[in-house]
Amino acid sequence: MAITRTPAKHFAPLAIGAPEPYRQLPVRLERMIHFIPPHNEKIRAKLKDTIKQVDVVLGNLEDAIAVGEKEAARKGFISMAREFDFGTTGLWTRINCLNSPWMLDDVTEIVANAGNKVDVIMLPKVEGPWDIHYLDQLLAQLEAKHKVSKPILIHAILETAEGVNNVEAIAAASPRMHGMSLGPADLAASRGMKTTRVGGGHPGYGVLADPGDDKAAARVFHQQDLWHYTVGKMVDACLAYGLKPFYGPFGDFADSAACEAQFRNAFLQGCLGAWSLHPSQIEIAKRVFSPDPGEVLFAKRILEAMPDGTGAVMIDGKMQDDATWKQAKVIVDLARIVASKDPERAAQYAL
Ligand code: GLV
Ligand code: MG
Repeated sequence: MAITRTPAKHFAPLAIGAPEPYRQLPVRLERMIHFIPPHNEKIRAKLKDTIKQVDVVLGNLEDAIAVGEKEAARKGFISMAREFDFGTTGLWTRINCLNSPWMLDDVTEIVANAGNKVDVIMLPKVEGPWDIHYLDQLLAQLEAKHKVSKPILIHAILETAEGVNNVEAIAAASPRMHGMSLGPADLAASRGMKTTRVGGGHPGYGVLADPGDDKAAARVFHQQDLWHYTVGKMVDACLAYGLKPFYGPFGDFADSAACEAQFRNAFLQGCLGAWSLHPSQIEIAKRVFSPDPGEVLFAKRILEAMPDGTGAVMIDGKMQDDATWKQAKVIVDLARIVASKDPERAAQYAL
């Protein structure tokens, strides 16, 4: 039997003076988590504009930041957090992993110097609920010490075989959990997949159509989504616990079509956003993770045709009932959140 806290203790602050955990996540639009290297002066100089373009800015301290730059990245993140007003744009950081020499200072220095500005800490290489419990307790102690007024949330990267095995327990570990991102690069390595890519498909992974009567005819090969299983497993774990699932990085910046296709698979399966590692991926994520205007207008018709959400009606020859009403509500609710931040799409949605 899994050992868990009693419901009352689950929602109690883990340190005297720490803020109350949320019972429901704050409503935020998070179509893309835009990664920046916080020690890069040129990128920091453009941050005022970047904040207006993206839903979340994330200062990356982990992989892709060289060992010699770890402390500069941490300091750069603290100074950008203090300097800028992020408005409705989220401010996140990806700290170093738990067994690294930098993680403890990442957390203690960031909470001490920018604790009231940071919305979410992304924790890489999470293997089980014990990793979340540790950061949860540490954050509560630091929040109490530095008088942080709202809880800093934890977002786990799902990027080890053990983490995928324990995904449900990770989701259930704490009310501080915000959600999860698929980390396809580390996960590929951890699982022993035979690839050298950051996310996306592989030309060798697919299904060959059966031969027809003409044995000499070419047979069609259908490439399949390498990440289908893991995204599905992550979405179920997240939604069962009221958390948000995300696709992670797509490393081939030149192949925007493949990036869009991969993001769209994740969106249709239930994800709410993906990482943008390059400015060109911001627009792709906006396009994919904002519901399609045609779908929104159709979903609105379903809601209007069944005001109390029950019964059955036909719309354009298609049967609608309580279950399609719920699907339509997911789309219209998301469209409303998008419309609150994106006037162009608000007009298309006619909300
Ligand atoms: C992201 O961190 C990944 O490993 O894909
Ligand atoms: Mg990784």
